[in-house]
Amino acid sequence: MKVSGTRFRTIWLKGDDPGVVQVIDQRKLPHAFKVLELRTVEDCRAAIQDMTVRGAGLIGATAGYGMYIAALTSPEKGTRAFIEKAAEILVATRPTAANLAWAVNRQLAAIRACPTREESVKAALSTAAAIADEDAESCRRIGGHGKEIIIEMARKKRGGTIHILTHCNAGWLAFVDYGSATAPIYAAFDAGVAVHVWVDETRPRNQGASLTAWELGQHGVPHDLITDNAGGHLMQHGLVDLVLTGADRVTRNGDAANKIGTYLKAAAAKDNGIPFYVALPSSSFDFGRVDGVKNIPIEERDSGEVRFVAGKTADGKIETVQICPDTTPARNWGFDVTPARLITRLICERGVCEASEAGILGLFPEEKT
Ligand code: MRU
Repeated sequence: MKVSGTRFRTIWLKGDDPGVVQVIDQRKLPHAFKVLELRTVEDCRAAIQDMTVRGAGLIGATAGYGMYIAALTSPEKGTRAFIEKAAEILVATRPTAANLAWAVNRQLAAIRACPTREESVKAALSTAAAIADEDAESCRRIGGHGKEIIIEMARKKRGGTIHILTHCNAGWLAFVDYGSATAPIYAAFDAGVAVHVWVDETRPRNQGASLTAWELGQHGVPHDLITDNAGGHLMQHGLVDLVLTGADRVTRNGDAANKIGTYLKAAAAKDNGIPFYVALPSSSFDFGRVDGVKNIPIEERDSGEVRFVAGKTADGKIETVQICPDTTPARNWGFDVTPARLITRLICERGVCEASEAGILGLFPEEKT
């Protein structure tokens, strides 16, 4: 996607140095656009853990390149042990998004099949590139399928603006390109459909305010930032036509983990008869798990993210302020699970399906056991 007219992906190899991975530092957005260099497994671990990079697809792509860096920086003796350790370190960074372990396991399979260190490096490089390219292509396809849903809604509304509510950032910044939830919005907008997006701010880290609002602005898509609790009110007053979110992990039966607060939007959408769609590439499916509420691991993050808020002051400085009494304790769950019964349809790169085992396996028959 474009940033001030220049085309960017969220992760790429430095042109003149294939030992350096470059990423957009998402902690600095929307106030500054900075590119960061990752040269070691530790750099990759830290980038995922401190959320320099975040979002299911991009976490997976960064782990893919992290495994390539592991192979490249591995010692001549003990290559395999070094790489296996790197895999453990990367997988331990964030538990909820399925893409992380998926990418690391794909790399391990490619590397384990290589008899020499040199071949391991080559295989890891082509696998990292494939993971990134497939992520972008899957999102592009999700855009194509989702666009049809929005076009159909616009037809029924006789060309009236389609108001879409989204939560957190499942945009191109959360993937390698296009995004999952935003891809249909960009595709519909580019096709001339009148769309408008309600952007949930998404406490505690405000990915909606800082990332989704920035992305949509860069692309020229009309949008308004709203507080996390405004969605239900807007739905009751006919101001939301569609809720469209991403997912960090979707179980075999269609339960979807996404940023904390998504479940409440799904419940409100159901109560108001508003369609609730979840967009995801196949790398975010967890075909081995059912009952997401019970079985999806939910990340609990530092309570400081709840107790403090960062932003730009009137004189342009970025500052962090405390919003509660000095001694107030806080808890910070990063995700919640929306049960399949509240999801109208899933939008994947292979098409649109019911959020049920039958629906999902209809698109992914190779996962039938
Ligand atoms: O904690 P993050 O920023 O990595 O969370 C991921 C998200 O932004 C959302 O849950 C998103 O909707 C799904 S990831 C494509």
